[in-house]
Amino acid sequence: MSLTRFIKDLLRKPESIPTPGAIFYNATVAKVLRKPETKIANDIVAKTGKGTILDLGSGTGYLSIEIAKRSTGLQVYGIDLSRQMVKIARRHAKGVDNAQFVYGNAAKLPFKDKSIDLVVSTGALHHWRAPRLVFDECYRVLKTGAEAWIYDGCPEVFRDKAARTKLYEEYGFLIGRFGPRVSTLHGFTRDEYQTVIKDMLEQTAFKGNYQMALTDIWMKMTLKKHH
Ligand SMILES: C[S@@+](CC[C@H](N)C(=O)[O-])C[C@H]1O[C@@H](n2cnc3c(N)ncnc32)[C@H](O)[C@@H]1O
Repeated sequence: MSLTRFIKDLLRKPESIPTPGAIFYNATVAKVLRKPETKIANDIVAKTGKGTILDLGSGTGYLSIEIAKRSTGLQVYGIDLSRQMVKIARRHAKGVDNAQFVYGNAAKLPFKDKSIDLVVSTGALHHWRAPRLVFDECYRVLKTGAEAWIYDGCPEVFRDKAARTKLYEEYGFLIGRFGPRVSTLHGFTRDEYQTVIKDMLEQTAFKGNYQMALTDIWMKMTLKKHH
């Protein structure tokens, strides 16, 4: 990578994570998120053991690869707007043939209508410039009756001492200690989910067909394609 590219990456306010950020993320945050994402992979395979899964903002690829490793009946695609993230994810996916990573924008998905059995996304919603377009794209590519599981930060997960202690015990020091701050900076408050994000969803084809729940270290939004 050239020095000018490095500086340009740092200065640009990104939707995608810029190259240095991707390298840093791979060495740090992605590792901390492995345990909670392993749980999500288990939940996904329990619900959808066969078919096609799409991971929006797949980053370093951990979640997509864990899903793919659990069932050869699944084809998993990760899409990311950072070329460096796609490169890192492809490297991690060596030998896992049913996990593939593509460079692209979740707001303009390179997938056919009704071709996807489940969409998942972790920690990416707060990056999206056009969340409404992403939600509409999810609706378009999902098969009828299928769901999108969108997880992102929400500080209320860590709201009281008991919750923090439990997360600390389960996921260790980094999540227990820094989780509240990180999810404030990289997510939305519960109130924002229930107002701003809800208003957006109401303007999409998912209107009235979604739920929001605090789960584990995230807010989980389940969007269902009804017809
Ligand atoms: C905080 S990272 C989360 C990565 C991964 N899902 C994880 O849990 O570790 C957010 C990712 O979303 C990607 N991203 C942001 N906006 C995007 C968009 N519109 N389409 C595709 N990827 C996007 C970023 O490049 C980044 O890799």
